[in-house]
Formats: sequence, C-alpha cells, structure tokens
Amino acid sequence: MEPQISDFLVVGSGLAGLTFALRAANRGDVIVLTKAEIQESNTNWAQGGIAAAVSDADSWELHEEDTLIAGAGLCDREAVRFLVKEAPAAIEWLISLGARFDKESDGDLALGREGGHNRNRIVHFQDRTGWEVERAMIAAVRSHPRIQIYEHAFVTSLLTKDGTCVGASARIEGLGQRKFFARSTMLATGGCGKMYQHSTNPSVATGDGIALSLQVGARVENMEFMQFHPTTLYHPQMRSFLISEAVRGAGGTLRNHLGRRFMYDYDPRLELAPRDVVARSIEAEMKKLETWCVYLDISHKPAADIQHEFPTIWERLRTIDLEIEKEWIPVVPAQHYSCGGVVTDLRGQTSIPGLFAAGEVSCTGVHGANRLASNSLLEALVFSSTAADASECGEVEPVCDPIAEPKSIAESDSIRIRRSMQKTMTNEVGIVRTNDGLAKADRQLVQLLEDYDSHAPSPFSTHPLETHNLLLAAQTVVRGAARRKVNIGLHFNSDNPA
Ligand code: SIN
Repeated sequence: MEPQISDFLVVGSGLAGLTFALRAANRGDVIVLTKAEIQESNTNWAQGGIAAAVSDADSWELHEEDTLIAGAGLCDREAVRFLVKEAPAAIEWLISLGARFDKESDGDLALGREGGHNRNRIVHFQDRTGWEVERAMIAAVRSHPRIQIYEHAFVTSLLTKDGTCVGASARIEGLGQRKFFARSTMLATGGCGKMYQHSTNPSVATGDGIALSLQVGARVENMEFMQFHPTTLYHPQMRSFLISEAVRGAGGTLRNHLGRRFMYDYDPRLELAPRDVVARSIEAEMKKLETWCVYLDISHKPAADIQHEFPTIWERLRTIDLEIEKEWIPVVPAQHYSCGGVVTDLRGQTSIPGLFAAGEVSCTGVHGANRLASNSLLEALVFSSTAADASECGEVEPVCDPIAEPKSIAESDSIRIRRSMQKTMTNEVGIVRTNDGLAKADRQLVQLLEDYDSHAPSPFSTHPLETHNLLLAAQTVVRGAARRKVNIGLHFNSDNPA
C-alpha cells in the first residue's frame, strides 16, 4: 500500500496529541493516528481539573513549591518552573478554543482544591473536566483543514532511518497495514494502567508508546513511580471508578470501618496530603484493621451541592443505589498514573531525533517521584505546545530501515497472559514492594514474554499486541523499582533502609 507523507505525525488523541496537532497545523500538514475512536483517552476520563495559579491569592512560585514538594526532590526544577509559569496562558488557550470551566458568580474562574496544593487552584468543569476539554479539542481538530484523523489505526512500529525517527507503521481498520512518513513524530499514547488488575484508566491505556520507544532505543525512565489514586470505588460491579480528589478538596473525610478519621494518625495534612502519603496510609489502615476498604464521607454537604459539583460521581453511584449525601463511599487505592515515561527535554524532544513525546507517556521531569494532583492535563498541554513549536516540518524521504512487525497471537492466549501479568503486578509491584516480590515479578514477566513468543502467529488483533506492549512496559516498572534502593515518593520497598 502507498505510504502516506505529512509534515507531522501524531500517535494518540488525548489532550497532548490533539494540542500538538492543532499547534503544528499552523505550520504544516498533520496526520493523527488513534487506535480506537478519537475520544477514547485518559483525558476524556479526567475528573479533577487543571492546576493553574490564576487567582490573586496565588502565584506561580507557590504552584512551583507545591509541585516540588509532591515530587519529593526528584523533579527537574527548570521543567517545573516552565510548567507553572505557562499554566495561566494554557488555560486561556483552552478557553479560546471553546472549553468551558466553572465560574463564580462574579465571573472569575471557580477554583477547586486537591491534595498537596496550598491554594485553591484547580480550574475545572464540574467533575468532568477532561470530557469538556476533549470535546472542545475534538471540535477544533475535526474542523481544521490541515489535520487528517485516522481512527482505529494501531501503530505497530516506529520507522527510523539512520537513527532518526521518520514516521510509523500502522494497521488501519478497513485499510490494512500502511506506512506514514513525517519529519516529526509525536508520541502521545497516554498511560499503561492496564498492567494492573485495578486501574482508573480506560482500556486503551496499554503502554503502547513505552513499548514503541523501547523498540527504537529511546530513553525511558522513572517507571517505578507508579501513582495509585487513594480513592477509587470498592464495589464488585464498578471496581476502580474514580472518586475525584476534588471530593476530599470539598471537605470529604476518610474513615475506617469504625468511623474513625484515621488520617490523624498518619499526616498533619490529613486527607489533603500528597497522593502517595494518602494511598499508603489507606493501605496501612486496611492492613491494620484487616478490612477490604475504607470510606469517604461527603455527607456533611447538602445533596444539591454534591449533585451540582460532582454530577458524574453522583449519577454513577446512584446506579448502584449509593446515596452519597447519606452514605459513606467504600474506597480503595487503584493504579492511576505513570509518572515516568519516555524522557524528553523542555521541547518534548526524546533521545531519538525526529521523535517527540508528551502527556502521560513522557517523562519531562515535572512529576519527579510523585505527581501533584491536576498537573497532568497541564503538563500535556504545555509540553505538547512547545514540541509543536520546536519540531521540524518539511520534506521527508519515504525511506526507512527494515522493520520487523510484531506478532499477533490468539486472543484467548493473550487474555490468559494479560491476566497473569496483572495479578503479578498487583501482588508484587503495588504501593508497598519487597525485594523478593520484585525478583518474582521480574521472573514471571520474562516467562510471560517467552510464553507469548512461543505461540504461533495469528491474524492481526490489537489485544495481543497491547498485551505485548504492557509486558514490555511492566518490565521497565519492575526493573526501575528493583534498581531504586531508597524509598522516595511513590516508590516504597519495605526492604529498603528506613
Ligand atoms: C482526580 O480527579 O482526583 C484526578 C485528578 C488527577 O489525577 O490529577
């Protein structure tokens, strides 16, 4: 099939990918490849909001300080400063595209509070900020004459020529395998939460960008800093549904099954301590009292206010007959966000020329050892914008080094291998790790990769290829965790010295 050539190629259609596409389209033609429907991304599921120092009571310096504290000393200071200074302009840009955010009666942006923030600075649209932002972005890219979107386009390999990325090879539903050449390729494939049994991520979060980057030798770091959201629903029919941190920001308290507000025993910042602290405290409390969950209590708030501020949560919990204005919400931590990823500089440039990365797949240095709540959509916006300005456009020859396309196996084998990986990652590479557990996980992942390779090729199917990507991404988490001998931020190994 004829290769397709454009100035810019984007893989992924969350906030990072679509921001890059819109900005880059000012300078050249853009092709967006997305493996499902365009709106299926982590962005679309984000409840909380976007952190930005936009009020008179706030400043970028304070936002910077909170980000550095959450990151536990491992943030890249230059990247953090750049991020927080750019935040107000990034919000303005979204508003200019038609994104709506909640406002106070005087017309100012209504600012919420989340853990680790010392000011109210979360710009949001009820509890469905990501959905609103994605809606505005999709409308803008769909109407842009220089952006062409391929849905159900699964990228199987990156193309390189003499060490430079020159595009990607993708399997497109209804069209088959096709090569896309571009001067600059942006990886914006999101996270890898599906390596765990319980994750707030959508099913598309399968570490594809991490695996693709590893295949071309790009630097991938800090994958051991896997963020577990403290409060996801504990319910057999709706496990891992996110209960936004904004609920704690609005005064929600955490209680054990005796009704005691246990965060008093763990941290003076109580429910609004950074996420790693709250998640570890919940895990310790459940272990101490031998319970399967703790509870989030927002029942002090009038029903009308809860319904207005958190309509998504309100409605979803109604479907399981939970009336949160009267009852406590059973919650447990679950995988939420990968703080590590493909290493980039401030312009989104990876270690491979021609290859850029932004959003959750990237490691810009702003999160360090633990991401501050609501800094993720912000990071996606800011660094994909700089990448769009910095990346080259222009002629590219449609020539690449030979590629070995990955092998599909039967879906039933893929399901079994994936389940096994998820169990291993959940049991051995969760909030609290041990040396033995990490060694066991490493062995099991090697065996699962061998198991995968031992199967005969099957006709193309995305599930197995995603499973293979998850296995490769999971290895980076386990090996990063085994190498890190000091407990810091999200990495806690009970065998490490105190
Ligand atoms: C949340 O709403 O709690 C998620 C926000 C985030 O992950 O930054």
